[in-house]
Amino acid sequence: MNIAVLGTGQVGRALAGKFDELGHDVAIGTRDPEATLASTERDARGNPSFAEWHGQHEGVEVLALPDAGAFGEAIVNATSGLVSLEALRATAGDGDLAGKLIVDVANPLDFSTGFPPTLAVKDTDSLAEQLQRAFPDADVVKTLNTMNNAIMVNPGAIGGGDHTVFVSGDHAQAKQRVTELLEQIGWRDIVDLGDLSTARGTEMLVATWVRLVPALGTNAINFKIVR
Ligand SMILES: NC(=O)c1ccc[n+]([C@@H]2O[C@H](COP(=O)([O-])OP(=O)(O)OC[C@H]3O[C@@H](n4cnc5c(N)ncnc54)[C@H](OP(=O)(O)O)[C@@H]3O)[C@@H](O)[C@H]2O)c1
Repeated sequence: MNIAVLGTGQVGRALAGKFDELGHDVAIGTRDPEATLASTERDARGNPSFAEWHGQHEGVEVLALPDAGAFGEAIVNATSGLVSLEALRATAGDGDLAGKLIVDVANPLDFSTGFPPTLAVKDTDSLAEQLQRAFPDADVVKTLNTMNNAIMVNPGAIGGGDHTVFVSGDHAQAKQRVTELLEQIGWRDIVDLGDLSTARGTEMLVATWVRLVPALGTNAINFKIVR
C-alpha cells in the first residue's frame, strides 16, 4: 500500500521507517522538504537529525504535503495535534482526500502553559472527529496514540508484546485495513472501541499516560486491558 506519513518528528520517522521495513511504498510529508533534508542538527533530546535518519531510510520519499497527499492511499497524521487540521488541509491541496484512509495517531496536547499539557479538545469532541468533519469523504481511524513511538512500532519491546492498542472509526472496512497494518507491526491485542466518537476516550487517556511517565521514570510502558 502507498502510505504517506505526515510529520517528521519521532512518531513520523518511527512509523515511516517501520512501514518501509514492512515492504510498503512510503513517503514522509513535510512543509519544506528542502529545509527538512538539510537539517543536520540533533534535537534537544539528542535524537539524530532528519538527514541522518533519512540516510538510514533512503527508501522513504520526502515530499511536500500536497505531493504526500496525492501519493498516499493511506495518510498517517503524525503532526502536532494543535496543527493537524492545518497540516491535513495543506495535504489535501485543491482536493478533499476523498476515498483516502486517514490514520490519526496525533494527540491534541497543548503545552503552552507547561507540563502537564492540557487537551485542546475533549469530552464532547476529539481531534479525530474534527478531522473526519473536515474531510467527510475520507475514512478516519484513530489508533496508536496511547503509547510512545518506540512501542508503537515494536510492541514486543515490553511485556512480551502482551498489551493493548485501540482502534476507533466510523468505517468498518477502514478499521479492518488499519487492523491488518497493526498486525503486520506485531500488535496482537487490538481492541475495536467502536465509532469515531470513542477516540474521545483514547485521546483523554493520554492525560494519564503523560503522568505515568514521570511517575515510573520511563516511557517504555503501555496500557494492558485484562479481561
Ligand atoms: N512522541 C510520541 O512518542 C507520541 C506518542 C503518541 C502520540 N504522539 C502524537 O503524535 C504526533 C507527533 O508527535 P511527534 O513527537 O513526532 O512530533 P511533534 O513535535 O508533535 O511534531 C510533528 C510534526 O508536526 C509538523 N508540523 C508542525 N507544525 C506544522 C504546521 N503548522 N503544519 C504542518 N505540519 C506541522 C512538523 O513537520 P515538519 O516540520 O516536517 O513540517 C513536525 O515534525 C503528536 O500529535 C503527538 O501528540 C506522540
